[in-house]
Amino acid sequence: MFEKEIKESLEKFEKLIASQLERIERMKKEDEKKAAGEAIVIGICGGDGIGPIITKATSNVLASLLASEIEQGKVVLREIEGLTIENRIEKMQAIPDDVLAELKECDTILKGPTTTPQAGDGMPNIESANVKMRKELDLYANVRPVRIPEQGIDWTFFRENTEGAYALGSEGMNITEDLAFDFTVTTTQGTDRIARAAYEFAHNNKKDRVSIITKANVVKTTDGKFLELSKQIAKEYPDIITDEWYVDILSAKLIDEKRRRDFKVLVLPNLYGDIITDEAAEFQGGVGTAGSANIGDKHSMFEAIHGSAPRMIQEGRGHYADPVSILRAAAMLLSHIGYFELSQKLDNALDECAAEKKVVVTGRDTGATCEEFIAYLETKL
Ligand code: IPM
Ligand code: MG
Repeated sequence: MFEKEIKESLEKFEKLIASQLERIERMKKEDEKKAAGEAIVIGICGGDGIGPIITKATSNVLASLLASEIEQGKVVLREIEGLTIENRIEKMQAIPDDVLAELKECDTILKGPTTTPQAGDGMPNIESANVKMRKELDLYANVRPVRIPEQGIDWTFFRENTEGAYALGSEGMNITEDLAFDFTVTTTQGTDRIARAAYEFAHNNKKDRVSIITKANVVKTTDGKFLELSKQIAKEYPDIITDEWYVDILSAKLIDEKRRRDFKVLVLPNLYGDIITDEAAEFQGGVGTAGSANIGDKHSMFEAIHGSAPRMIQEGRGHYADPVSILRAAAMLLSHIGYFELSQKLDNALDECAAEKKVVVTGRDTGATCEEFIAYLETKL
């Protein structure tokens, strides 16, 4: 019974295994290093919906902060067109080939939100541009900080960004009408590098605790491997306290006001990282307030963690979009390319605006426009 279904599924499974083994070989190869003295190219990619509005505003802020570096030819801001849902549908590609080639030419990217079609919305089934970019540029560390200084909260999440449930997220199989399979992938190389990134960050930033988050009591093989390998890396950092949490109790402890301050740096497989970082950002004021860094050995991409808000555009409210999340991402970008002081300056200015609340963006005409907020922010820079 079901011989044909089993045979076909095994054939597909064989191909999936081969694709993941090839990916491991690519991870093992050393990335080419950039020659010293070349300009740092920052690609600016507007995306869809409110994306172009908040991205343009943020790239203007970057241009004024980096004015002298740009003048001296040390930094180039390069606009990249074509990462729009219309162009992606026209080419039927998550990221059209020519856009991807341009992105690969950049050292780092500031990206506005991009629309992801989902089943039933009438759009063709195209993979998320985010997920595709993370895979294509091998941006394995998704770093998401959440800070609420007055509550003593200073968390940095290191979400694994290329594996887990996302590696083959579009490759699941309906084996029969009644049986569906998805796959989750953990590799030695993929786990070592995210765990090392988390511990290196803790070490360099004087954070004394790293928490390893899994559900290894149930998802024994892949989460078990993630936990074991992360603990091996932990041994190289004896001054840092390591603890282990299952993701369910972690989600509860983040709400526990007595305990949650103890968390500092957290390392998580992809899907748990996706969920937990939305929960964490909510304490800080919502996903609109948090930036997100996607970092690989060669490339990096910085983005707002919210979506493209197409409804705001349909209702003619696009100019009321809140640029804070992508501005936070821009601050992370500055620090990543070595401009720590400028990064701090931007973060401090955003903190001041958030505390003072003289100009507040609400997303509607009850609040300020994106442009008005930027003018206010510039008074603090
Ligand atoms: C995020 C988003 C993405 C993800 C979506 C848009 C595919 O939720 O960046 O957290 O699941 O990673
Ligand atoms: Mg998410």
